[in-house]
Order: sequence, then structure tokens, then C-alpha cells
Amino acid sequence: ERVCLAYSGGLDTSCILAWLLEQGYDVVCFCADVGQEEDFKAAEEKALKIGALKLVVEDLRREFVDELCFRAVQCNAIFEDRYLLGTSLARPVIARAQMRVAQQEGCVAVSHGCTGKGNDQVRFELAFYAIQPSIRVIAPWRMPEFYNRFAGRNDLLDYAAKTGIPVTSTKSKPWSMDENLAHCSYEAGILEDAATSPPDDMWKMTDDPRQAPDTPADLTLKFEKGLPTSLALDGKSITNSVDLFTALNKIGKIHGVGRIDIVENRYIGLKSRGCYDSPSMTILRLAHLDLEGLVMDREVRQLRDQFVTPAYSRILYNGLYFSPEREFIEASVLESQKRVNGQVRVRLYKGMASILGRSSDTEKLYSMEESSMDSLEDFKPEETGGFIGIQSIRLKKYGLQKEEAGEK
Ligand code: ARG
Ligand code: SIN
Repeated sequence: ERVCLAYSGGLDTSCILAWLLEQGYDVVCFCADVGQEEDFKAAEEKALKIGALKLVVEDLRREFVDELCFRAVQCNAIFEDRYLLGTSLARPVIARAQMRVAQQEGCVAVSHGCTGKGNDQVRFELAFYAIQPSIRVIAPWRMPEFYNRFAGRNDLLDYAAKTGIPVTSTKSKPWSMDENLAHCSYEAGILEDAATSPPDDMWKMTDDPRQAPDTPADLTLKFEKGLPTSLALDGKSITNSVDLFTALNKIGKIHGVGRIDIVENRYIGLKSRGCYDSPSMTILRLAHLDLEGLVMDREVRQLRDQFVTPAYSRILYNGLYFSPEREFIEASVLESQKRVNGQVRVRLYKGMASILGRSSDTEKLYSMEESSMDSLEDFKPEETGGFIGIQSIRLKKYGLQKEEAGEK
């Protein structure tokens, strides 16, 4: 029987590959390119050497940016006020592609190296089952015959030596990383002590803000229906979505924009300390939010902020992308963005992104004249007195009641 394994080339998934072969499976390895720094050729050589039938690499960068990252920007997605969901965003496209490969290759099962304590197992498997309800999932880290045998890293190393798995000489970092175009995440290992600061050299996608240039980088982002459509930077204009995203990552890195360090609540109920650097998502979210201030209706915005943004963010975090609720809430995101057109000028400087100005050629909700303190055109100040009078009816009663009771 054939199994499709999500393979990274690292020690864990290499041991899982060897173990699956030992169980009598034929294994097709799958590797997703979501913009991470990775030597796919080396991963392929390694997989084949261990005994995989083949390694299939799929470039998912465009669908990742267009379908997931930009949708997240459109609704300002954020989890627990801090996390921009980089890993959560990549899982749906990876799972979908893995199922595609599994089906093309005639696999009866899919397998992955997620631990039994995390979010990713939930995200991958809910996606697998939604896409192909009949699929079988092999999650070795939840199987006693696997986790009892490989209790620690040393067991994995011993097994690798015994089964001829080449162990790359690069010293393994004392934390776990997950990298894609949207971010790099750092968890576990020495980071598990939530009180310790991460080492300076941990961050991959941002340089130390203390070493950032003294000259800021100013850029202009244009949005249509809430989607970033062009980036003007250094006299160049970039419209290709993946290029735009990559260029923002590059300039954001130089200026150290987008680092966070949090303790979050995983779906399965555990708290977990995580560090993330996400330059492009940080810049895009800020610029998009700012443009909405200029062009979005107040009540639509309030409802969106109260219901849509938290719902969409939670759906993504909890791995429910392939679900009726995601489709439902996404329709509302798109509806809310119909008039989010315009441009925002952003400055990156020593770890910060800030707004320099915003404008829209097509949207008219904001009018300089109407909002101006120096003009009374089309505005009757005496009407505002009535507005306050009516609004105060209830508050006066409340105040009277307190006064009579002698309360403060
Ligand atoms: N805590 C983050 C999340 O749940 C990051 C997970 C990182 N995953 C990984 N396999 N290293 O989205
Ligand atoms: C894992 O547990 O495999 C990584 C972290 C997570 O999924 O939350």
C-alpha cells in the first residue's frame, strides 16, 4: 500500500519515512514550496536514499499568497491580538496539495510529522478529511508503537545511524522552526521557558532593529477591493503578488519590522510560547487597516471588527479552512472590501512601520471640507445640540437616580 508523507528532509520526517517503509508501506514523499529556504534537491536525494518511491515538490507560493495571505490582509486577521497566523495560513494550501499528490499517486493514506500536542495535526487532518473523507491518516507521533520507540532526539539519531539515514552535519537549532513567505515561527526547546528572551541570532526574517539603518524606507502600497495590487519602492513598481510580498519581506527584514514574542492558547488547550517574524504581513496589515479608516463605512467596520475578523482568524487558527463557516465568513469579508480602494504611504524605521499618508481617487466617504474645523459648509451646528440632547435622555435619568441614592 502507498502512503504520501509530508517530508521536510529533517531528522523527524526522515525517521518517519524509514519507519513507514519498515511497516511495509511504499512511500511517496511530498514537499511544499511555500517560500521557505530549503534545498529541495538535497531533500529529494535523501528521501530516495532512504527508500522513498519519489519526492514530489510543488510550488505553492502563488496560491499561498493570493488565496490565503491576501485574504488575511483583507480582513486584518490576527489571533489573540498578536499572532498574524503565518503557519495557520500555509496549512490549507499544503494539505490540499498533499491530497492532490496522494490522489495522483494512488495513495491510500497520508502521513505527517506533527506532534500530538500541537495545532498542525488538527489543521492537516481536518483538511485531509474535508477534501477526501475516505482518506486514512497515519500520525506516527500519536501512535504508541512509534512514540514509545522514539522518546527523544537520541533515539531518532540512533535509528538514523542504524537505518542509514544521512544526518546533515548542520547543528540542529535548540528550537523548532516553521518558515514560509508569511513568517518564520520559533517554538519549543529553549523557548519553552516563557521568561527567557530568545537569542539575538534566532530571527531569520528580520534583522535586529537596533542595527537597522538610520535612513528609513518609504514605500507606497496600493489596494483594490482590499487586495494589495502594487508596491512602489525605490522608484520601482511591483504588481506581481508573490514579488510584492517578497519585496516587502526583504525591505521589512532590513528595518527589523514584524517581530513578536507571545504565549498563545493552542486549539487543543495547551498554552505555548511562540516567537514569530512576519515583515510583509505586518506592513500589509497596517497599511490595509489604515486605508479602511479612510474609505470604510463606520457601521460595516464595527460589525466586521466585532464578528468577521475574530471569526475568520479563529477558523484559520483552529484548522477549519475547509469548512462551511469559512466559506460563509469569507463572503462577508469580500463584501466588506468592495470599496477598499486607495493607497497608503508607509515608513519603515528601526523595527517600526508607520503611516505617512493615505488617499483614494475613487472613494468619497472622507471629505476634507466636511471634516474641516475651518468650514461650516453644509453643516448646521445647532443640529448637533439636538443630537446630544436626545442622546443624553437616558444618561440624565441614570445620573438622577444615582444623585437621589447619594451614590458617586
Ligand atoms: N503556534 C503557531 C501556530 O500554531 C506556529 C506553529 C508552528 N508549527 C510548526 N510545525 N513548527 O500556528
Ligand atoms: C507540532 O506540534 O507539530 C508543531 C506545533 C504545532 O502544531 O502547534
